[in-house]
Amino acid sequence: MPNLLHIDCSVRRDESVTRSITAVFAEEWRAAHADGGYVYRDIGAAPVPHIDEAAVVAGLLPPEAWADEHRVGWSVSEPLIEELRAADTLLLGVPMYNFSIPSVLKAWFDRVTVKEHMITVPGTEGLLTDKRTIVVTARGGSYAPGTPRESFDFQAPYLRALLEQIGLDRHLEFVHAEMTLAHSVPALEQFKPIADTSREEALETVRRLAAA
Ligand SMILES: Cc1cc2nc3c(=O)[nH]c(=O)nc-3n(C[C@H](O)[C@H](O)[C@H](O)COP(=O)(O)O)c2cc1C
Repeated sequence: MPNLLHIDCSVRRDESVTRSITAVFAEEWRAAHADGGYVYRDIGAAPVPHIDEAAVVAGLLPPEAWADEHRVGWSVSEPLIEELRAADTLLLGVPMYNFSIPSVLKAWFDRVTVKEHMITVPGTEGLLTDKRTIVVTARGGSYAPGTPRESFDFQAPYLRALLEQIGLDRHLEFVHAEMTLAHSVPALEQFKPIADTSREEALETVRRLAAA
């Protein structure tokens, strides 16, 4: 049975571009996989606690060596790790915040990037390498090749590096919706058509990916 793990992390709800696009992917994927499992985690609304020493140490020690604090620390990380391992497809909705990813998503990565998932030798297989990963980003501006802010994109390259170190880059697709601030910032009004086209293209892409 295929399983989809869908994670959103925007602090916005109804106005969120990432949420609106990941929702379309999830809806179409579920229609195409009637027998599939679906897990939704909204870490924008319910953030994952930051990693702490107890969880880090628990991840390095065998369970029989754990003290109570390690059990407590691991009890936060374990469900997140299990959800990720159980998924065949990981869907991430990722707004650009200060040229990078929201801190709540970083907190999730800090919990699931455990030694069992690490690809220590590039190109070798790991526990997560069979999975498909779809990353839907939304950016207020544009960071496309050839744009003035291309080199300010620390979101997609950073995510690619993070995903690569746990083997989630083997079947990885990025879908970008750009210039989203054109609809709320008067100075960017002229870019509304670019924003609309970018969003439409992103929606078209996720529909295609969900059906594949
Ligand atoms: C805290 C914060 C930081 C942001 N930083 C950037 C940024 O560095 N570059 C950018 O292009 N847009 C930035 N934006 C705009 C968001 O990327 C944009 O509104 C995007 O659509 C957010 O995703 P969402 O629509 O799913 O909420 C920022 C927005 C917030 C709330």
